[in-house]
Amino acid sequence: MPANSSLYAYLHGQFTPLDRAFLHVSDLAVQRGYGVFDFFKVHAGQPLFLEAYLDRFYRSAQLLELAVPLARPALRAVIEELIERNRLPLSGVKLLLTGGYSANGYEPGAPNLVVTEQPLALPTPAQVAAGIRLITYDYVRELPAAKSINYVTGIRLLQQLKARGAGEVLYHHQGVITESPRANFFIVKHDHTVVTPATDVLAGITRQNLLSLPESPYRLTEGLVTLAEVYQAKEAFLTSTTKRVLPVVQIDDVVLGTGQPGPVTRALLQALLGLEAHQSRPAAAPVG
Ligand SMILES: Cc1ncc(COP(=O)(O)O)c(C=O)c1O
Repeated sequence: MPANSSLYAYLHGQFTPLDRAFLHVSDLAVQRGYGVFDFFKVHAGQPLFLEAYLDRFYRSAQLLELAVPLARPALRAVIEELIERNRLPLSGVKLLLTGGYSANGYEPGAPNLVVTEQPLALPTPAQVAAGIRLITYDYVRELPAAKSINYVTGIRLLQQLKARGAGEVLYHHQGVITESPRANFFIVKHDHTVVTPATDVLAGITRQNLLSLPESPYRLTEGLVTLAEVYQAKEAFLTSTTKRVLPVVQIDDVVLGTGQPGPVTRALLQALLGLEAHQSRPAAAPVG
């Protein structure tokens, strides 16, 4: 891992320089790809939507039958101290929980909890303006509700993506859309309703933030989204912590709408930026 030597990480119950943060090869993450993680942004020392990410981290761990070695208040304190030590202006914090050091390479040991923080690059205005091209692929993630460390299919398809000039994959199963390897997916229909697949997806925090936007001028819902509907969509976009709301301009050989990011997508990106700005403001000091 390219490590910035001035940064700290947390593992084995203590803070360690990131360039000396190692796990043993017997860890089940290495031996069998067994583990979960989560990832959230930190802006000016303030984690964004932290409680939602913590909820999902503990839920993922439970789905893989892994016990998080720290209770929530203690994990929150570790995150606070890591942010305080590293003092990065804009970063991503990763919580990683592995199957632990396995005696026989298959049965879990005591889970290893690793917390790292690294500088973060978000999509540039030029990348947002250009949008992204997707190619579809028939696959459903195993245990879709868990944010597991298994990205075998998405990573294996990277060369194919490059060869076809696409930026990411869109998973479907027998014509029913689910999500992208690292992002949720929405379409904007011609009646301006905005729909995201309801089942077999990770409960993305960005997806949920959009679905529960206060005073949205658009009707956002979860529901069935088919491949046929995707090719007919007026607009489409991906959502994730790092991508925010990223316009999709082409899927397979079909150019969506005008081939440019559409007005609904752009408005929803602005709405998300508003929510993020609200989160990153430190809470007002009590009066008196
Ligand atoms: C499979 C999958 N779906 C969706 C997302 C988007 O989730 P979030 O908005 O919480 O980043 C991710 C994020 O990495 C993911 O791995």
